[in-house]
Amino acid sequence: MSFQMRDGTLHAEGVLLPAIADAVGTPAYVYSATALRDAARSFVDALAPIARKQLLYAVKANPHPAILHTLSGFGFGADIVSGGELQAARAGGIAPDAIVYSGVGKTREEMAAALDAGIGRFNIEHEREGEVLSALARARGVRATALLRVNPLVDAHTHAKISTALTDSKFGIPYPEAVPVYRRLAALPGLKLQGVAVHIGSQITDLAPLCTAYRKIGALVTALRGQEYSITHVDLGGGLGVAYRAGEAGADVVAYGAMVVRETAGWDVTLLFEPGRFLVAAAGVLLTRVLWVKPAQPHPFVIVDAAMNDLARPALYDAWHDFVPVRPCSSERFVAHVVGPVCESGDSFAHARAIEHVEEGDLAVLATAGAYGAAMASTYNARALVPEVWVDGDRFDIVSDRTPAALVRSQRLPHGMAESA
Ligand code: LLP
Repeated sequence: MSFQMRDGTLHAEGVLLPAIADAVGTPAYVYSATALRDAARSFVDALAPIARKQLLYAVKANPHPAILHTLSGFGFGADIVSGGELQAARAGGIAPDAIVYSGVGKTREEMAAALDAGIGRFNIEHEREGEVLSALARARGVRATALLRVNPLVDAHTHAKISTALTDSKFGIPYPEAVPVYRRLAALPGLKLQGVAVHIGSQITDLAPLCTAYRKIGALVTALRGQEYSITHVDLGGGLGVAYRAGEAGADVVAYGAMVVRETAGWDVTLLFEPGRFLVAAAGVLLTRVLWVKPAQPHPFVIVDAAMNDLARPALYDAWHDFVPVRPCSSERFVAHVVGPVCESGDSFAHARAIEHVEEGDLAVLATAGAYGAAMASTYNARALVPEVWVDGDRFDIVSDRTPAALVRSQRLPHGMAESA
């Protein structure tokens, strides 16, 4: 286990979390290399029966280079959605030909830079993007290898804000239009279209919608082959959910692997996978300190030093993260609201939740925060981005320093104001 209570204190692997708080302060993201490797291994093992595949890590979940380096050791390339993520993937040691460029709003500059970098594959989200990509590739005397992202119109039964295959979703080509759009794109001289891509949403714990989507994609592959297109690659996206609450079950990755084997039997393609959350969520916690316990009726407010700018998921998706004291002093629970210091009522991590006893000055963690935690942090309320700490065995390293001074240094006054200041 990577985050574990031992001798009354929560540890990250062999390291006491209070030692990390002493070294770097709070709040801070703490990552467990072992947890990351365990998740990577379980994904790789679950898909072992699939001979022709390419594993890609969805960088958006957490772009830290230590994570990318670790995952590349398990054979993962990268799924990127911006020029910044291209740089992050390269900084993380991912080879350009192991990178797939997805995303609904690629700029011309980003596409050009990706072509110049020798990116392996583009997932095209709409027709005009395909035309521009073709022209950019032609101008460079190359053909861009690409897949067409299709919206299979399947409800993923997850939070609406992270569902991507509803009728009003901005992603991909709606299923009924997929064949004609594919036909037009396949005719473009600068594209080498090899198949289709699908991604129906995130934090999916019930495999049924994924299965439905894959069946529709299988039928589409057959239809495209019926039109003489050579389909060699299908990208099945990411989306596997994890357990956020103690006692809750995440997606069963072994069952997922078996479902993919069953549903794709006979497709005769290379399958691509783009997991993000599944690999990194459990590998991170947000370490925080209780600033105050403010009495209130009917429930007190536990005010911690982490806030919605550090971990936005509860404010954005009403997401649950377990709140666990680092040195619980009693097993007694009390009902409280756990909130941050930001001046918004949405800056709340837990509403009327029965939590273990904590007092002013105590350390606690918001658990399962390795995915879409640091990656989505902002500097709202002029709060600096929080540092990140990497734990492997008995050793920890501070792997990003983020100070208020750095935030202020990145800003300057405009001409004229500078002189009078
Ligand atoms: N591929 C594509 C095209 C995606 O859009 C995404 C995630 C993934 C792969 C990786 O999905 P995953 O395996 O992580 O579910 N910020 C939200 C999640 C947004 C997901 C966006 N797309 C959250 O904190 O829940």
